[in-house]
Amino acid sequence: MHRFHYAGADLHCESVDLAAIARLYGTPTYVYSAGTMADNYRRLLAAFGALDVRICYAAKANSNLAVLRHFANLGAGFDLVSGGEIRRVLAAGANVETSVFAGVGKTEDEIALALENGIHAFHVESEPELARINHVAGKRGVAAPVAFRINPDVDALTHAKITTGKSDSKFGIPLRQAVAAYEAAAKLKHIRLRGVQMHIGSQLTAAAPFAAAVEKLLPLVARLQADHGIEYFSIGGGLGIVYEDALASGAADWWESRPEDRRPLTPEAYGAALGPLLEPLGLKILLEPGRFLTGNAGVLLTRVEHLKRGAGRNFLVVDAAMNDLVRPAMYGSHHECVPLHRDSSRRALVADIVGPVCETGDCFGRDRRLQEVGEGELLAFMSAGAYGFAMAGRYNSRPLPAEVLVQGSAFEQVNARETFEQMTAGEKIPAFLQ
Ligand code: LLP
Repeated sequence: MHRFHYAGADLHCESVDLAAIARLYGTPTYVYSAGTMADNYRRLLAAFGALDVRICYAAKANSNLAVLRHFANLGAGFDLVSGGEIRRVLAAGANVETSVFAGVGKTEDEIALALENGIHAFHVESEPELARINHVAGKRGVAAPVAFRINPDVDALTHAKITTGKSDSKFGIPLRQAVAAYEAAAKLKHIRLRGVQMHIGSQLTAAAPFAAAVEKLLPLVARLQADHGIEYFSIGGGLGIVYEDALASGAADWWESRPEDRRPLTPEAYGAALGPLLEPLGLKILLEPGRFLTGNAGVLLTRVEHLKRGAGRNFLVVDAAMNDLVRPAMYGSHHECVPLHRDSSRRALVADIVGPVCETGDCFGRDRRLQEVGEGELLAFMSAGAYGFAMAGRYNSRPLPAEVLVQGSAFEQVNARETFEQMTAGEKIPAFLQ
């Protein structure tokens, strides 16, 4: 469910006409629905019933300060992966005391920053990393709270680039080494064992891999609870969203209208599969969703530059490109493309939707079917709220796009389009070239 819908012929985000946003702030522009994010947050929490659950929003999915503040206001902690993300949470006016710090290559400075700000725990990926955390905590005369990330060696059945729970990935420590790792860690003076963590991949569309991984880890978790008094089990993120039928999936009755074998994983089914496995532990459970909370809460607005009729192919050239939304080029992922103004009297058009960047890979979709549209008309790429702006770059010297947050009938630009001066601010011509 999400709050993007046509009111009459015009696509709205909550109560706001998206064309009005495009006119005010130009394109390409990301637009997010605060209401959808709140719905997703509450729905996921409710799916675990009475279980003691904390949602640590994976900031990497969308780390705009306004988005972080919104989740902090809702009661979320954060799953953070860099000093930059820690600083973003602080800049958003939130604290990191309910947040966790993950990642395979934390630097000494990042570890110190996390300790200084009272991080809830470090999610540790290796023994050398643990030694570094112990060292930095020792210099500050404190004990660092930690949880090991355990790799359960389970196939998440998702895209190869975002599967993380198999033993050949760089993530976590193998299950069979876990007990020894905790025992060694317990002997370190500046380490305090606080939890255990897993994360098997992203955009999972079935509950079975999550359940298999949790089941594999349960005996270990119970043992760590008994031997080391750990307080929590984080089961990571990974809950997938709808990309193919994104616009229609906003309707309340969409899920039931789908054939049974084509219904995506819901938070309720995720909670129902995992809740009963986790409940007997009596531990606090952490969830680290990114995509589920923000993915379908965002669109990327773009304007048509030209309809280019090629040899046997049509190319709809738009003003957004792979630098703004890299997922199609990087993962071959699908983002539904819809017109902001719907006109059923128009003929259909089948075209490749492409950006202006000088690579054939700069393509949002091949042979897409939509109503005929011409120069200057506006389109939206759906499901772009997660890993959209967060992965944007400046390739072809294209500035970072603008971002707007909507709540009800209110909206504000929460990130201005980058200027040329900002883009080049750190660059200079060296003296030897002048
Ligand atoms: N926890 C950990 C330790 C993670 O590595 C990730 C994502 C998450 C939580 C959040 O996963 P989510 O709930 O969003 O699936 N750029 C890719 C996705 C990369 C995910 C990386 N890790 C994409 O656009 O599909």
